[in-house]
Amino acid sequence: MNNGDVSQGRRRFLIGATSVVGGVGVVGAAVPFVASWNPSAKAEAAGAPVTVNVSKLEPGQQMTVEWRGKPVWVIRRTDEMNENIRKLDDRVKDPLSEDAAQPAYIDGELRAIKEDYAVIVGICTHLGCSPTFRPEVAPADLGEDWLGGFYCACHGSRFDLAGRVFPGMPAPTNLEVPPYRYDDENTLTVGLDPEGAA
Ligand code: FES
Repeated sequence: MNNGDVSQGRRRFLIGATSVVGGVGVVGAAVPFVASWNPSAKAEAAGAPVTVNVSKLEPGQQMTVEWRGKPVWVIRRTDEMNENIRKLDDRVKDPLSEDAAQPAYIDGELRAIKEDYAVIVGICTHLGCSPTFRPEVAPADLGEDWLGGFYCACHGSRFDLAGRVFPGMPAPTNLEVPPYRYDDENTLTVGLDPEGAA
């Protein structure tokens, strides 16, 4: 073996090591989302609107549907939950969601067409994990001032029950509200705007 072979071998090793590290980086970034949500390839490819029957949803409950390969939450909010959201107006970062991704017909602090049903894309605006629904008030692990919301375990971002982020969190903006409309009192379609709305 001569020096040329050695350096050749070493160069190959370095290239190999670099690609492995690069690969790990990519996988690491993708894992939080993939681990918590496995979209069906069919729905993802289609990107079709999804119709949801909310008649079985009890006050205070959350359900998840899949739209364009993403989890979309529907939360039936109680009056108490909505009051708690309003109480947080001066504590959240962007109370009226001026910097948030949401349709033009969604406004106000409750961010919903009908205030008792929230429809929110369940993907953290930091790096794409799916936050956990934590509706209880003042649980031991989230602290006395927690009034219900969503907690992202990946890096600790906290959102209220309208998906509004608190200041100083890794997540830069409020959770996204997708386009949706009501077909009747108990049926809504995610992915379609209301008649006449842009
Ligand atoms: S992905 Fe949610 S805090 Fe980082």
